[in-house]
Amino acid sequence: MPDLYAVFGNPIAHSKSPAIHAGFARSTGQDLVYEARLAPVDGFPGAVAEFVAAGGRGANVTVPFKEEAFRLAKRLTDRAARAGAVNTLVFDGADVLGDNTDGAGLVRDIVDNLGFPLADRRILLLGAGGAARGVIAPLLAGAPASLTIANRTADKARSLVAAFADLAAIDAGNFDDLAGKSFDLVINATSASLAGAALPLPAGLFAPGSLAYDMMYGKGDTPFIAQARAQGAGRLADGLGMLVEQAAEAFRVWRGVLPETAGVLAGLRGALAG
Ligand SMILES: NC(=O)c1ccc[n+]([C@@H]2O[C@H](COP(=O)([O-])OP(=O)(O)OC[C@H]3O[C@@H](n4cnc5c(N)ncnc54)[C@H](OP(=O)(O)O)[C@@H]3O)[C@@H](O)[C@H]2O)c1
Repeated sequence: MPDLYAVFGNPIAHSKSPAIHAGFARSTGQDLVYEARLAPVDGFPGAVAEFVAAGGRGANVTVPFKEEAFRLAKRLTDRAARAGAVNTLVFDGADVLGDNTDGAGLVRDIVDNLGFPLADRRILLLGAGGAARGVIAPLLAGAPASLTIANRTADKARSLVAAFADLAAIDAGNFDDLAGKSFDLVINATSASLAGAALPLPAGLFAPGSLAYDMMYGKGDTPFIAQARAQGAGRLADGLGMLVEQAAEAFRVWRGVLPETAGVLAGLRGALAG
């Protein structure tokens, strides 16, 4: 019997994770099955228990269950504890380890795939929700010149910064506080695009040669990418690479081998474009 893995979410039907992990299993010669499982919004622990009883070895967790997975885990990796959320579970007998690979996935996409080192760069993170929180420590580990967090609700950015005060001094505020400032890397971790809302970004925000990175992805430009292009960002990237890299890191956690990602990413990009 091949080892069993799954991604839990609600909704889950359009998840790309089964195709990504099937590609990794093929390229690394690992014998496993990876399914998409719909959990009821009020029934995540039960769905996980059922999966473990059926022999499940590990799971990814997506919206809206990452905080619940954090509470369900019996042990946490340091990066999951920092993130306050879990996107990767490892089941071993009665033990449940919670990990978070989102930040590692983002950094690997930016640094390795896009060839954009973080050291000495001025980084702006837009948003202060779960996705933003999960990437703060991995971004700081790249030794940037500075990290600024701007959020529609400034207080949420400030409390996020307080939670990382032992790692670095991080600037926090709302979008108005960005006037007159410029950055080398601007990461959109808001969900504004989902509502079709443009962010109130001041002129001059994108320094020459800067990279605008949207955690969202889709066919063609996302609203944030279109805005960054119009405001003169030097380079543009969406979050499809982050999605593939966080999956690769989860695969490594489960299987002990880090899969090659370029082929899977190219396949997904082609399918999105088509
Ligand atoms: N590529 C990947 O692998 C990957 C991984 C994780 C997440 N993501 C993406 O990251 C995004 C954020 O996810 P999340 O889990 O952090 O969501 P979340 O916890 O709900 O946080 C949403 C954030 O967006 C802000 N926001 C929402 N609507 C806005 C608007 N109209 N204008 C300005 N700010 C707005 C919120 O600001 P307030 O605090 O003011 O409400 C908050 O900071 C999603 O689009 C998600 O798909 C991608």
